[in-house]
Amino acid sequence: EKDGHDWFMRKEIYEQPRAVANSLLGRRAADGQLHLDEMRLSDQDLRDIDKIIIIAAGTSFYAGMVAKYAIEHWCRIPVEVELASEFRYRDPILKHSTLVVAISQSGETADTLQAIRHARVQKSKVLAICNTNGSTIPRESDGVIYTHAGPEIGVASTKGFLTQLVACYLLALYLAQVKGTRFGDEIAQVMDQLDKMPAHIRAVLDQAEEIYALAREHVDSRSVLFLGRHAGYPVALEGALKLKELAYIHAEGFAAGELKHGPIALIEDGLPVLCVVPPRGRDFLHDKMVSGIQEVRARGARTICLAEEGDTSIEPYADVLIPLPSVPVLLQPMVAVVPLQLFACELATAMGHDVDQPRNLAKSVTVE
Ligand code: F6R
Repeated sequence: EKDGHDWFMRKEIYEQPRAVANSLLGRRAADGQLHLDEMRLSDQDLRDIDKIIIIAAGTSFYAGMVAKYAIEHWCRIPVEVELASEFRYRDPILKHSTLVVAISQSGETADTLQAIRHARVQKSKVLAICNTNGSTIPRESDGVIYTHAGPEIGVASTKGFLTQLVACYLLALYLAQVKGTRFGDEIAQVMDQLDKMPAHIRAVLDQAEEIYALAREHVDSRSVLFLGRHAGYPVALEGALKLKELAYIHAEGFAAGELKHGPIALIEDGLPVLCVVPPRGRDFLHDKMVSGIQEVRARGARTICLAEEGDTSIEPYADVLIPLPSVPVLLQPMVAVVPLQLFACELATAMGHDVDQPRNLAKSVTVE
């Protein structure tokens, strides 16, 4: 049942190329238009939307953070992303023209469910992004985008996350199509790039042995930091969460631009810092990240850099370099998160932990 893997998590990491392909399947009609089967919100409903609030918990929340970058860039609709547990109890301002998007792999997370119930009482439209057919959250939503990852059994979300990202991109592109934004001409181009993702993820998985060896070097680490910026920031947060929940190591993700505002004080000799380097296309992001890496390394950090293949500018500052396929910055989370999943899975295995059933955690959190 684990296809020869030691853990469901590892099996599910390796399933990601297929899960992503399934998630993309049948979304483009012959005329090139995007179709989302169970969207159920009319084009007019969507055209009336002037604000989006994404609510989720844990890993799904990080997918929501990526969605914000994509939707704001492609659709020019303001997006807020909020933890479901915080949203529900702060008396949020919701209007008819607010679209609430709930992201939940299981479709049963109590905080997220309470949040959408609250939103519907306030007359906002609710769209669910969910992996579990017929679960409570999509049933109580106006529309749904199913992620089609197949059942996720490992407690740590992996293919669930990647396919949530696909659903978020599809939602962004769909909104751009319906709203007819300037970006409209590029929708087909982004869909073509998404279609290449399974092959790109496979290319990352081909480097698993190197990443495993690297992970095993870190069994004695007491703390590991993750740095990213722009769409790489949620990836850094997700990499840190995976390490916390599986290896029980103190791990934190930071926005690289925040380093100087405090976290840089944590850097000491030999501290592992995993850095998600944006692709070179957007030079301002890339160069700022490189200078952040330079700074932590000058203070003794051991820098493990995930960077676009062929990016030689990072070589002088990387103690370890993990090449990533060349993809646009907004799509980079789909390839950049994979080495971090492999790293956490292997490190926890080497420490002798139960990767599929980490201590104190449940697969779906049905109590608030
Ligand atoms: C992390 C993880 C959790 C879930 C969170 C939300 O690996 O699995 O952080 O992402 O509990 O769960 P769903 O998406 O089912 O609402």
